[in-house]
Amino acid sequence: MIDLTTTVLGVPVMDYQHRSLLELINLLGTGGNSTGVIAGCQAYAERHFIVEESIMEAYGYPGRDAHVAAHDAYRKRFAGLLAPALNGSPVLTRTMHRFLEQWWVEHIGHVDRELAEFLKSKGAREAA
Ligand SMILES: [Fe+2]
Ligand SMILES: [Fe+2]
Repeated sequence: MIDLTTTVLGVPVMDYQHRSLLELINLLGTGGNSTGVIAGCQAYAERHFIVEESIMEAYGYPGRDAHVAAHDAYRKRFAGLLAPALNGSPVLTRTMHRFLEQWWVEHIGHVDRELAEFLKSKGAREAA
């Protein structure tokens, strides 16, 4: 279970989207309709990446290429886990859940945190 109080970065658009996504990931960890939740994670993560990538573009963020590469690496790993997880096997759902939990906590805590600090230094608390 991800503790949602530890992932706040101080840029509302990022925090709001991270929170929604992390709530979905926590839901996946509790069982329930895993196929629907995984599809929701996929759609929501893609929307979120597009928002972050356009903010980086708009603000001329110097770390943009590395950050987009991190998103692309996620897209690839997620795609590799998707079909097996959608079979509904509990083991594969747990593998997907573990990947999502680890990846998002790590990404938000480092790569996104650096972006958030940059945006705040540009006075962009209300970015996008
Ligand atoms: Fe993010
Ligand atoms: Fe990101």
